[in-house]
Amino acid sequence: MPLILILSLVASQDTSFSYHGFRSANLSLYGMANITSDGLLELTNTTTFQTGHAFYPSPISFKNSSNGNAFSFSSTFVFAIIPNPDHSIRGGHGVALVIAPTRGLPGGSSSQHLGLFNYTNNGNPSNHVVAIELDTFKNQEFEDINNNHVGIDINGLTSNISAPVEYYVDDNSRVASSLDLVGGHQMQVWVEYDGIEKRIIVTLAPINATKPENPLLSLNCDLSPIIYKNMYIGFSSANGQLVAKHYIVGWSFRINGQAPKLDRSRLPVSPLLGVPQSGGKKRSKFFTIGLPVIIVSLAVGAIIILISVVRRKRQFAELQEDWELDYGAHRFTYKDLYIATGGFREKELLGSGGFGRVYRGVLPTSKIEIAVKRVSHESRQGMRELVAEIVSIGRLRHRNLVSLWGYCRRKEELLLVYEYMPNGSLDKYLFGQPKVTLCWSQRF
Ligand SMILES: *[C@@H]1O[C@H](CO)[C@@H](O)[C@H](O)[C@H]1NC(C)=O
Ligand SMILES: *[C@@H]1O[C@H](CO)[C@@H](O)[C@H](O)[C@H]1NC(C)=O
Repeated sequence: MPLILILSLVASQDTSFSYHGFRSANLSLYGMANITSDGLLELTNTTTFQTGHAFYPSPISFKNSSNGNAFSFSSTFVFAIIPNPDHSIRGGHGVALVIAPTRGLPGGSSSQHLGLFNYTNNGNPSNHVVAIELDTFKNQEFEDINNNHVGIDINGLTSNISAPVEYYVDDNSRVASSLDLVGGHQMQVWVEYDGIEKRIIVTLAPINATKPENPLLSLNCDLSPIIYKNMYIGFSSANGQLVAKHYIVGWSFRINGQAPKLDRSRLPVSPLLGVPQSGGKKRSKFFTIGLPVIIVSLAVGAIIILISVVRRKRQFAELQEDWELDYGAHRFTYKDLYIATGGFREKELLGSGGFGRVYRGVLPTSKIEIAVKRVSHESRQGMRELVAEIVSIGRLRHRNLVSLWGYCRRKEELLLVYEYMPNGSLDKYLFGQPKVTLCWSQRF
């Protein structure tokens, strides 16, 4: 019994490693791959139609030898794809984390094959290759969804699952923020395989963000029949006619456990890398938050202006009927009366009677002082007769009689405009009820 335990421990050999930069790393490099003087793993430079491979030098035991089940494993890495400044359009094909039976994938072609496969073996189950691709080119033949996606590839470049590059800024947000792989910004990827649940999950975020709760990809897939017991892990990248520089900045891995955390402060700083991208592309934030806010604000503003215009129109709207044309000269506009009385403010109130209030005012153009009586008139019945009487009074001149100059009609309201008499001697006429006024007029 103890012997079996010892044997199984030896077999599982829990491999774990982490690289913060690759200056002192003993990676196996092929093709264009090299380590820059500041410690970056450069998989491709700007040479066209080339591949670059970098592998952890030792084989890793990925399977339990007694039952043949693939172990759980986890890996995380920081990468950056720097667009070629010589080209106005994006270049390169991308980069992939790959688990392969051989170190270096010598048969992998450039361009769309990402250095992983070639025309002959693409899609062949005998490849025994699992790759997580960060694909920057849309290849119709592999059913790529766009030129900026993450995919899980098993034995071929037609991904088993893929998604546009985006991440949830925080756990509460429902809106994913899009990221551009070729933006030159550093991003971090987490790849986790659960050997019990038999599921691969891939998560991605900008370098300065914490690992999002929501993974980008989740694929139920038992790797046991796909991989051999001993496999190599590394990176593959390719350029075609158009090129980009593909860099790995840090990398960690562990079989049967969580990959060691990458310490951002220990990652190499290099002028070759772009500045970290903060919280998603500005453009996407603008479109998801900024633009809707602007549109809503403009709409609200327009509605407010419309309401105030309508209100103003309605405020000064008057009532006029054909029969009134004869009395045109005696009609005042509501707007003038409104301005004259300062909007019928309390300060101008001379007093109140049973049928309304009387205000002092100054006509805006002529500067003549007036008294305005607002008569609330519930029914339109008798309005014609009332106005006719009022106008006829107005035509009369008498030393004891206050001059009634005219009127104005609005909604269900009648406004009577009198000459202003400051001594208050005519208060009884002003503050009396219209009925009384009419009776009194009949005396003449
Ligand atoms: C790219 O790298 C290779 C190998 O390191 C080198 O021979 C070649 O000159 C480089 N090309 C450019 C354009 O930098
Ligand atoms: C394709 O890749 C396989 C496996 O690496 C290799 O054996 C084969 O020679 C390659 N074929 C071509 C046409 O490159």
